[in-house]
Amino acid sequence: MTADAAIDYFTESRSVEAVNGRMGDGTDPRLAHVMSRLVTHLHAFIKDVELTQAEWATAIDFLTRTGQMCDGNRQEYILLSDVLGVSMLVDAINNRRPTGATENTVLGPFHVDGVPEYPMGTNITLAGAGETCLFEGTVTDLDGTPLEGVRIDVWSDNEDGFYDVQQPGVQPLHNNRGVFVTGPDGRYRFRGIKPVSYPIPDDGPVGQMLGHLGRHPYRPAHMHFIVSREGFETVVTHTFVAGDDYLTSDAVFGVKQSLIAPFKPVAGGETQWRSTFDFVLNKAAAA
Ligand code: BEZ
Ligand code: FE
Repeated sequence: MTADAAIDYFTESRSVEAVNGRMGDGTDPRLAHVMSRLVTHLHAFIKDVELTQAEWATAIDFLTRTGQMCDGNRQEYILLSDVLGVSMLVDAINNRRPTGATENTVLGPFHVDGVPEYPMGTNITLAGAGETCLFEGTVTDLDGTPLEGVRIDVWSDNEDGFYDVQQPGVQPLHNNRGVFVTGPDGRYRFRGIKPVSYPIPDDGPVGQMLGHLGRHPYRPAHMHFIVSREGFETVVTHTFVAGDDYLTSDAVFGVKQSLIAPFKPVAGGETQWRSTFDFVLNKAAAA
């Protein structure tokens, strides 16, 4: 049989065209665009670094172990996305807001649905030690008008740096979690503990990768917030403890200057610390 010179087989120089040329005519346009750009950048990367067979095998093994680490409670791929800055980049692209509106940051894996709604002022620390802290502030729109009926869903680690879901049977269910809804004054107020810095789960392939790259797994201390009201963009964010050692080296790149909150010692008060932070919501685009 003679070779047909007219057929463009896969070669190093036309690898991208060979793969993208296989796309069917009926492919969803967005999928076709995303996949063809992915192939273009992936092949360019492999050519740029001249990936060796051994490195390719290492990458396949890493991705396999990353998948094997995943179960209902552990999502190692999201962790990988987080430490590579991908989660924060996707979040930034999808949550561009006007100056003055509260910025988003990474959700993280420890949010829980179905947490009780409490009256303002409730202590969400159900057990354990820790330095007590009052969290308070106002939720307004961009014009400064206080917003009523805003749902504020909060969660933090305990004094040892663990979320309740990481220590079932050790911490009570919903320890350091709560939901609050603002009244006409737009104000929120609850008690908890001053969060502490903690390492992201680093006993899997992502932790090993950080080790190989000379990176630590720590996140600076923070309180998580989801602030939502109909007609406004939902803010998924944290407030970070000002002065924390890891503010400039967060393992998942979640810190933004505007989210660093004061934590002030309170002399003779109900709590040892007080952190004030005001949220500003941006109107949602009309449907
Ligand atoms: C967190 O803040 O809870 C978190 C975020 C990303 C990865 C791991 C934990
Ligand atoms: Fe966290």
